[in-house]
Amino acid sequence: MRKPILAGNWKMYKTIAEAETLVAAIRSGVEFIDAVETVVCPPFVALPAVAAALAGSPVGVGAQDVYFEKEGAFTGEVAAPMLQGLVSYCIIGHSERRALFGESDDWVNRKAKALLAHGITPILCVGESLAQNQAGETDTFVRSQVQAALAGLSPAQVAGLVIAYEPIWAIGTGLTATAADANRIIGLTIRGAIARLYDETTAQAVRIQYGGSTKPDNIAGFMAMPEIDGALVGGASLTAASFVTMVQETLRARGG
Ligand code: PGA
Repeated sequence: MRKPILAGNWKMYKTIAEAETLVAAIRSGVEFIDAVETVVCPPFVALPAVAAALAGSPVGVGAQDVYFEKEGAFTGEVAAPMLQGLVSYCIIGHSERRALFGESDDWVNRKAKALLAHGITPILCVGESLAQNQAGETDTFVRSQVQAALAGLSPAQVAGLVIAYEPIWAIGTGLTATAADANRIIGLTIRGAIARLYDETTAQAVRIQYGGSTKPDNIAGFMAMPEIDGALVGGASLTAASFVTMVQETLRARGG
């Protein structure tokens, strides 16, 4: 059984003090929920404070990006060894990084390898644009992103990954894929691609989230789908009340 995982992608929001206040409230809201894994991904500068505030709690900590080199003259970048011990997850390949900061499939693959070499689980984002969606290219495009990101990874490494299917047109727009469409792309396109590249056991093990305008009032529909193993939540993860409600809704949708 794949345990659902709800991860809050805070993007470039929250000062250190605001982050501490937010995670204190999230911690008390989800402390006794075992059947859903909860993760917060604050900006880099807030990671030490957030990790300290969450020590001993079931809430995991993730970074929003990493650079793939171990160290060096890469002004402004953060390396996997610097995150080791501080985070257990790291988002890679988010569509904002791909579109605004030129992150290529090759970089995403190198970032995945750097994280895995340091014991950090990638949350690998994939998803099509509106134009690709309307042209009927979703399956081909998402499959190619998955294949490129996983190049050279072992079945055991892939089985432990978290993948987030985030249609770009649904991120921060208030539009969402239908739960049925998201379930089909996650199950047939993404899990199907992994089954062909690896094997069915690996494909069944990897946890695959939906992301894009999930909110307290629409999360249950996604979480009731058998192929969807949680959500990567942007805007609605910035207040404790909405994020905690989404964790509770996930629990309820799974019969908890
Ligand atoms: P959103 O963002 O929930 O605000 O649409 C999701 C994401 O970018 O991960």
